[in-house]
Amino acid sequence: MRNSSSIPPHGNGMHNVTVSLASSFMGLKMNSPVIAGSCPLHINMERIRLLENAGIGAVVLPSILQEQLVYQSILQSSPLEAVERSGHSRQQDRYNGGPDEYLKTIGAIKTEFHLPLVASMHGASTGDWLDYAIRIQDSGADALELNWQIGRCDPTESGEQVENRMLHWVAQIRRKVTIPLAFKMNARFTNPAAIAVKLQNVGINGLVLFAHRPHWDVDIDRRHWTIGWELSPITSLGHTLEGLVETHSKELSIPVVASGGIRSGEDAIKAMIAGADVVMMVSELYRQGPDGVKDVLAGIQRYLDANHLASLEAFFQTRPDFEHRPSNSMRSEIVDPLTSSNRYTDPTPVARQIHGDCFGHPSS
Ligand SMILES: Cc1cc2nc3c(=O)[nH]c(=O)nc-3n(C[C@H](O)[C@H](O)[C@H](O)COP(=O)(O)O)c2cc1C
Repeated sequence: MRNSSSIPPHGNGMHNVTVSLASSFMGLKMNSPVIAGSCPLHINMERIRLLENAGIGAVVLPSILQEQLVYQSILQSSPLEAVERSGHSRQQDRYNGGPDEYLKTIGAIKTEFHLPLVASMHGASTGDWLDYAIRIQDSGADALELNWQIGRCDPTESGEQVENRMLHWVAQIRRKVTIPLAFKMNARFTNPAAIAVKLQNVGINGLVLFAHRPHWDVDIDRRHWTIGWELSPITSLGHTLEGLVETHSKELSIPVVASGGIRSGEDAIKAMIAGADVVMMVSELYRQGPDGVKDVLAGIQRYLDANHLASLEAFFQTRPDFEHRPSNSMRSEIVDPLTSSNRYTDPTPVARQIHGDCFGHPSS
């Protein structure tokens, strides 16, 4: 674990394990404020057991993809066209188990564990495939996280029309199920505070800030772009903190999860000071395995102890009142660091490849 300037290090006698970290998100009761975010590690029962033992508050399954569900429905009527019209490939079923197995996994996890379980759907357009949300609910998932992809942009479609397309998608799912819905928001909206309130108004119960973005590059030999899926860079927390502050407003009353760059208890505390109610982790679970959760929880505990806070609730009372921040103060917060020095931090880390086995143990 990284050194922290404001959280006392391990072993100084201040760690009081009796402080409860009990939390809730969208009405789901959790033992801790740390959620294991959507990724393919979480279709494995043994992995979930390890996360539960480490103190995780809830688990999100990997997303089921629009392509898989559209494929299933076309398969009945036009088997020869199903692959071409859906964009389905077998690797998608390996990613999350496939649509039928996914529902069985939900049932099995709910039978075996007491953790809140969140399913996830990832897509770009409306259609019959959205009925799968009903099957997710019937299988026993406690909540559903939605990940909507804008897709390729049409230059004649305004930003507001894109947003309306997204809100329509959400509203359709909202009409189908009664379980809480979380929305994993894209970080690139021009006015995230406005879109957050619109999502709340169409029935979203919680926001996940933010959706993970793939890494783009260009292959100069093939003269074509390449898109890779990477872990979050270790310096990505700053983007999440900025987005949390920008998204909050006094009109927003639904809870918010910080997702992106949470690696330590100190990161979790920072995200909560910036407005998150709970935090989500994925990349650090690939790096450290379930022990990453223990580190984060121990760091939160030490911070509460060191600041004589008896609970997370007491900590939330001490948060700054970000709802009434005057806009000129936000301006000076950017201009001052830009102009105050000619020395700039270079955050460039050295990248290495990480593979996790199905138990989440990193292997080199
Ligand atoms: C290997 C991997 C797989 C992921 N799979 C999904 C997914 O299926 N659905 C989804 O909405 N997000 C997915 N994500 C995004 C994570 O849930 C999370 O939002 C993101 O990684 C940011 O958190 P982190 O910085 O702790 O990794 C994935 C991320 C990684 C690294």
